[in-house]
Formats: sequence, structure tokens, C-alpha cells
Amino acid sequence: MKKDYRATQIQVDAALPDLAKLAKPARALAAGQLVAFPTDTVYGLGANALEDSAVAKIFAAKGRPASNPLIVHIADLEDIYKVVTDFPPLAQALAEAFWPGPLTLILKRQDCVAGLVSAGLDTVAVRMPAHPVARALIRQAGVPIAAPSANRYTAVSPTTAAHVLEGLGDAIDFVIDAGPTSVGLESTVLSLVDEPPQILRPGMVTLAQISAIAPEVCYAKPSFLGAAENRSSPGLARKHYSPNAALILVDDAGDALQDALKKMPEPTQCACILLDPPDDATRARAGAIEVLGRDPDIYARTIYAALHALDAQHFTTIMVQRPPTDDRWRAIHDRLERAQN
Ligand code: TXA
Ligand code: MG
Repeated sequence: MKKDYRATQIQVDAALPDLAKLAKPARALAAGQLVAFPTDTVYGLGANALEDSAVAKIFAAKGRPASNPLIVHIADLEDIYKVVTDFPPLAQALAEAFWPGPLTLILKRQDCVAGLVSAGLDTVAVRMPAHPVARALIRQAGVPIAAPSANRYTAVSPTTAAHVLEGLGDAIDFVIDAGPTSVGLESTVLSLVDEPPQILRPGMVTLAQISAIAPEVCYAKPSFLGAAENRSSPGLARKHYSPNAALILVDDAGDALQDALKKMPEPTQCACILLDPPDDATRARAGAIEVLGRDPDIYARTIYAALHALDAQHFTTIMVQRPPTDDRWRAIHDRLERAQN
């Protein structure tokens, strides 16, 4: 059943968007309205990053605390000084290697960026997304665009326009639909204002990839990631990315999944997200099963859609088989750990 939402939906081709179709939402952005749009990672909820009144609408629509700063998106490197005061050689080297792409850099903030974007910090998060629609839209808007993931605060991030509408369809002005996003998890957030530079949020650009350019980079301390609130990156609050169902991580070993399912009073109320196709007993017991496989890129691309789909079926519990632990899975682990509630 298709609900009627307040948001105007605009469909465009992901690779070669019709620029004329982006004119209206681009004007709306420049004028201070909210436009959800696809990026390489997840759908973003965009607003003019130079206007406090526009950015305030993002926090209101998401129900997000104002203490949690936003990422500013640019279309072209020549616009970087609209956002930051200083773009040091390390930032340049990282941008050359990973932009456009799923890497966000924390740098010193330019005064013209709306104060709300940075939640009072003197730094700003900036990235250039690798999505033709995002870049064309930002270019046409003519201003840097602040955009968190286009979901209600603490809910699972959207990887399709339908996910956006489900959560925010009546709270925003436009949704641009260009199909599912390709990376599927939020960008890697790397602070270049810390010494040594630190990864505040793991993403699909891995420590190993960043180390090839900046060997001194490390992960922020895990204790840091667990803190309920934290000054340098408040968005690292523990509960985040949660489905409505209770999410339980189950070891990928022996009969762990079977045992966990047996303990459930009503296994049919329980859905499973697995790495490998299940045996007959598991298939018979569980209410639904999604198999995502053992390729981290494909898993990342599909995990949020699986959570959204299972949530839409109102399961009480989602059991997720714990993925492998090597670094390419780090961001996936991070999101799954924080989705446990
Ligand atoms: O892939 C992504 O990054 C998506 C797409 C839309 O670009 N955006 C996204 O935004 O995930 P959001 O708001 O959900 O997450 C932004 C993260 C938060 O963890 C926040 O705390 C951190 O970036 N952040 C933003 N500004 C910061 C700053 N000045 N210092 C430290 N952390 C910051
Ligand atoms: Mg988010």
C-alpha cells in the first residue's frame, strides 16, 4: 500500500541524472528547504549549510539533539574553502586518493558555515560524495549542503528513497529517488585536527587504505566509542542505527544460532540475518531469513535494507550471525554492535 507523503518525489537516473529535474529541489535547498538525496553511502537529508535556520530544520525533522554535528557535502574541490579555513597537505593527499567517495574529514571550520552544523565546535566534517546525483544537486544549489543520514534519530539509515519516505516522508520537502545506494554504510569519519589523526567512525574506507597515505592514523579508543555522549564526536553515542526489533548478535560457530533460536519462546517471531544459507532445521524454525554472504562490500550494501525489510514485517527479534572480524568488516561490526538494544 502506497502512502501519500508531503514530500515531492523526483525520480532520476543514478548515473546520468536529468539536470532539469534537479532544478526545483536545488532551488529549494538554496532557499532553506529540506531535500533528501542519494549519496554513495546512504541517503542524506540535505539543507543549506550556510544558513542556521535551514540547518535547524534538519535537527527538528530527525529529532536529533543539537549537540550532534553534521557533515557538509561539496561537489567540487574548488569549494573546499567555503567550508574549512585550512586544507593541509595530508587532507589534500587523502582527498586525492578518496574523493569523491565515502571518507569524511574533520578540519577547522570556516566562519560562514552555520554554527548549528558544528554543534558549537570550531571544527567541521566535510566530504565529497561519489554520486552523480548528489554532486549535480549540490552544484545546482550553489552552496555546500549539510546532510546527516535521512532517518529519524537512532533509526536505521536509509539506502533507498522508500526508506526515507517511511521515516521522514511528511517532515521534508523533496526526496530524490535514484535507486539503492552502492556503499550502504555511512562514511568513514577521520579527524585531522587530532594528533595523530584518528578514525572516529569506521566506514568502508578502511584503516589499511588510509594508512597507505597516512601511516600514523589510528582508531579512536574503543572506550570513546562506547561513551553515551562524547565531546569530540557526539554522534558516536552508543545506541544508534537501531531497528524496532531487538537485535541480537549470535556467534558464527557450531550450534550457536540453533541454540539461540531454541531459547526463543516464539521462534516464528524471530528473523535471522545469516552469512551462509541455513540448514533445514533453522529454516523451519525462524520466521524469516536473509542471507547476505561473506563479501564485506556486498554485506555492507545490503544490511540496512535487510533490517528495514524485517522491521516492516514486525518481528520482535532479529538474530544476526556475527560476521568475520578482519578490518574490512570493522564498520559492519561497529553498526551491528550499536544496533543491539
Ligand atoms: O555517509 C555519510 O557520512 C552520510 C551521508 C549522508 O553523507 N552522513 C552521515 O551523517 O552519516 P550523520 O550525521 O548521520 O553522521 C555524522 C557523523 C557523526 O558521527 C558526527 O558526530 C560526526 O560525523 N561529526 C560531524 N561533525 C563532526 C565534528 N566537527 N567533529 C567530530 N565529529 C563530527
Ligand atoms: Mg546517521
